[in-house]
Amino acid sequence: MKIEGSKWLVTGGGSGMGRHFTLGLAKLGADVAFCDMGAESIAAVVAEGEGLPGKVRGYTCNVADSAQVDAWVAQASADMGGANGLINNAGIIRDGMLIKKDKATGEVSGLSDSKWQQVIDVNLTGVFNGTRAFAKHHAETADGQEAVIVSISSISRAGNQGQSNYSAAKAGIVAMTKLWAGELARYGIRTGCIAPGFTRTPILEGMPPAMLEKVVAPVPLKRMGEPEEIFMAVKFIAECGYFTGRCIDVDGGLVL
Ligand SMILES: NC(=O)c1ccc[n+]([C@@H]2O[C@H](COP(=O)([O-])OP(=O)(O)OC[C@H]3O[C@@H](n4cnc5c(N)ncnc54)[C@H](O)[C@@H]3O)[C@@H](O)[C@H]2O)c1
Repeated sequence: MKIEGSKWLVTGGGSGMGRHFTLGLAKLGADVAFCDMGAESIAAVVAEGEGLPGKVRGYTCNVADSAQVDAWVAQASADMGGANGLINNAGIIRDGMLIKKDKATGEVSGLSDSKWQQVIDVNLTGVFNGTRAFAKHHAETADGQEAVIVSISSISRAGNQGQSNYSAAKAGIVAMTKLWAGELARYGIRTGCIAPGFTRTPILEGMPPAMLEKVVAPVPLKRMGEPEEIFMAVKFIAECGYFTGRCIDVDGGLVL
């Protein structure tokens, strides 16, 4: 699919990778309608997008809420005059070991229900909600025309200690990307998924510097990835008409 002149929906476009994807696509001449949760970050990215070759529009939508996602996909597609691309990017982390024993008291606690559910709701159900709404809208309005869905998984899909919730969600995205390729090809829709390694975005801001050094040490390329480098994989998935159903690792060679 040619990016210039295409029309994209991006979730979590107010920060980090989603912001880069939104502005990167608009620089290449695509219109983008992104969603996020906070009015301030949405307004900031819309302002950054002013004057670019493609038009950037911002919307408030919680990807964990299917009614909000359905409404956003319908409204944003109408505002752009259609949509041929979706990036399921929004994601959160709520890390914790499955169980933890207090050395002093011997008391054993478990990863909380709320930490489990919040990450599953946003990172797994959110991708399901976005893809279902986009595919349904495409089948109703543009059946057979080329479209592409890119979902952001993670290197943690292999199973990363302290991330039962996040690893389960990110592995689920890879499986759904594969099965959706088969289910959606008849409507002209390709799917692809990207599994970034540690990438320089605000999601890692809460990590102490010592911890960041520790996570970068085993990376063969000895550094974090940059959002621009993940965007190169987005462009490949969009542009290569023979790509569907697979996951591209962009992780500096790190194996968890
Ligand atoms: N940064 C990394 O090292 C890394 C590595 C692998 C995968 N990822 C994945 O990349 C994606 C982007 O992460 P990032 O690093 O840019 O993080 P980020 O925190 O900078 O951006 C995530 C965006 O998603 C938005 N968001 C969160 N919950 C939402 C919801 N319910 N509805 C709508 N928007 C919501 C946030 O407000 C934020 O703007 C995520 O799926 C993340 O899991 C990140």
